[in-house]
Amino acid sequence: MSIINIAIDGPAGAGKSTVAKRIAEIMHLTYVDTGAMYRALGLKAVRNGIDPGDAEAVATMLPDTTVTFIKINGEQHVVLDGEDVNEFIRTEEISHAASVISTLPEVRRKLVDLQREIARSTDTVMDGRDIGTVVLPNTPYKFYVTASAEVRAKRRFVEYQKKGILGDMTYEDVLNEVKARDERDMNREFSPLRPAENAVIIDTSEMSIDEAVDAVIEDID
Ligand code: DC
Repeated sequence: MSIINIAIDGPAGAGKSTVAKRIAEIMHLTYVDTGAMYRALGLKAVRNGIDPGDAEAVATMLPDTTVTFIKINGEQHVVLDGEDVNEFIRTEEISHAASVISTLPEVRRKLVDLQREIARSTDTVMDGRDIGTVVLPNTPYKFYVTASAEVRAKRRFVEYQKKGILGDMTYEDVLNEVKARDERDMNREFSPLRPAENAVIIDTSEMSIDEAVDAVIEDID
């Protein structure tokens, strides 16, 4: 049987990881959160006092850095240099570091190679920014899950509130950060975020997660 890889790209907070996880469950595929890999490298830079935008300093860090996944209680955890770092990578500081470090071509090359290696031998749902355009350009299953910046900021604001990590951030602050990340992700020189030519666009601004999942599965069937 041939390997199936489903590519799901889109901006931060559009619901793509929730959709991807649900599809992985329903179709018995492995969920690969490529954003978590960039976050792990962002975390390592921050921990080592390295500016994530400093290409030279980051390049010296890369050769002896490993990023892998382990499944714990059915959930994929990202492992940095042998340490499960899942609980440290979702803060605002690391979101920013990941967004900055992901602009560096050396970083992208290393992680894209790892992602392709996983996809070669495993049936996956892979979510990210460049999966349909760069990592798996030949997969027939490409989706671009998006939503307006305001809707995404509102979702993120509520999520931070629930997790108790909002601090003194206002909705406006979250919206500004969402827009700044979009700007970096969409306008960077290497592998900018954009829908692959043959991707199916799913706008979740006024759609439930279930509806988005149905839209993907209908298209694959
Ligand atoms: O999906 P996420 O928000 O966890 O991703 C964190 C950062 O990593 C995001 O700013 C963009 C970057 N990223 C990327 O450049 N390419 C990917 N395939 C996945 C994430």
